Amino acid sequence: MLTKRLEKALNDQMNFEIYSAHIYLAMAGYCAELGLEGFENWFLVQYEEELFHAKKFFKFISSKGGRIIITGFENPENDYPSLLSVYEKSLEHEQLVTSRIYDLMSIAHEEKEYATTSFLQWFIDEQLEEEESVANIISKIKLVKDAGLYLLDQEVAQRTFVPPTGE
Ligand SMILES: [Fe+2]
Repeated sequence: MLTKRLEKALNDQMNFEIYSAHIYLAMAGYCAELGLEGFENWFLVQYEEELFHAKKFFKFISSKGGRIIITGFENPENDYPSLLSVYEKSLEHEQLVTSRIYDLMSIAHEEKEYATTSFLQWFIDEQLEEEESVANIISKIKLVKDAGLYLLDQEVAQRTFVPPTGE
C-alpha cells in the first residue's frame, strides 16, 4: 500500500514524464523545421523513451493499488535560437528530472517503502545515462560546428527505441 503522499509524488512524476515527452516532441519539430532529419529522429526516440518512463510509473502505481491521476501541463517551448540551445535545454531538463527522482527516492526512504526505492533505482541509473548522452552531443555539436553537422546528423539518425527486456 502506498501512502497518499507517496501516491501523489509518484503520480506527479508520471505526469512530468509525459510533459517531458511533449518537450522532446516539440524539439523534434524544431529540428524538422531546420531540415535536420537525424536530430528530428533523435528527439522522436527521446519522446518515446519518456512515454515509456511514464508507462513504467503508471504500471507501478497501479500494481501497488494506487490511483492513477492524469493532469494537464504547460505548453512546451517550440522555438529555439539554435540546435545547440535545444541540447542545452535538454540537459537542463534532464538535470531537473534527476533532482525530482532523488526527491522521490528520499520520500520512499523516509516511509521505508522499499518496493518503491527498488523501482526508483532503475530511474536513477537511467538518468545517469540520459545526462551523459545529452552532454556528449553538446560537446560534439561544439566541436563539429556547421561543417560537420551533416555527418553528426547522420550519426544520430541511427538511434532506435529499444524497450528494455522484461517489459
Ligand atoms: Fe524520463
